[in-house]
Amino acid sequence: MEKVKFTQMKDGDQEDYAFLDNLEREYTKGTADRLLKAMIELDEGLTGYQVTRLGHSLQSATRAWYDGADEDWIVGALLHDIGDIFAPHNHDEYAATILKPFLREQVCWCVKTHGDFQLVYFGEHVGANPNKRDLHRESPYFDDCVEFCERWDQASFDPSYPNKSLEFFAEMVRNVFAREPYQESVIQVGIRKPLTNKALSKLRTTSS
Ligand SMILES: [Fe+2]
Ligand SMILES: [Fe+2]
Repeated sequence: MEKVKFTQMKDGDQEDYAFLDNLEREYTKGTADRLLKAMIELDEGLTGYQVTRLGHSLQSATRAWYDGADEDWIVGALLHDIGDIFAPHNHDEYAATILKPFLREQVCWCVKTHGDFQLVYFGEHVGANPNKRDLHRESPYFDDCVEFCERWDQASFDPSYPNKSLEFFAEMVRNVFAREPYQESVIQVGIRKPLTNKALSKLRTTSS
């Protein structure tokens, strides 16, 4: 079978849908590499900053790495602006939607809302409410997103920062997207893990 028999979904049979399901499973395995490729497109996106979008993303992830953050945080930091390509008005939600089946809820929440939290740094200059993050005060992850933005996002526009390469993070991205989607052990509802780990941070800083 090379193609399904139907031209309207309602006419498909079990054989058609089993065939499609197989193809979909194979295709899904390539998600991580498609995202890594998309990261390169970020390099051609939005200009005007002293670093490209890819540079900003790598810098955010590198800072997370040196802070001793775990894999969820690092991949979240790397991909937090991936939505810029197709969803400039809600890039945070777009990125979080991609990450949601594969990353801890805490990290996805921070990615999803980081746009509102970032306004504290520049809202006053663009006629937006700098305190928009207050909408999220009730969330258990509020302080985590404050820290995410302060340590990794707003700080990562420095062209002289020696960030690590996309290749350095590629294996982590592949690991994350190879996880069983939506597993309880992956999503870890309500669990808060620190963004930083002093011992790991020291180890990573001295070994590189
Ligand atoms: Fe962003
Ligand atoms: Fe960002």
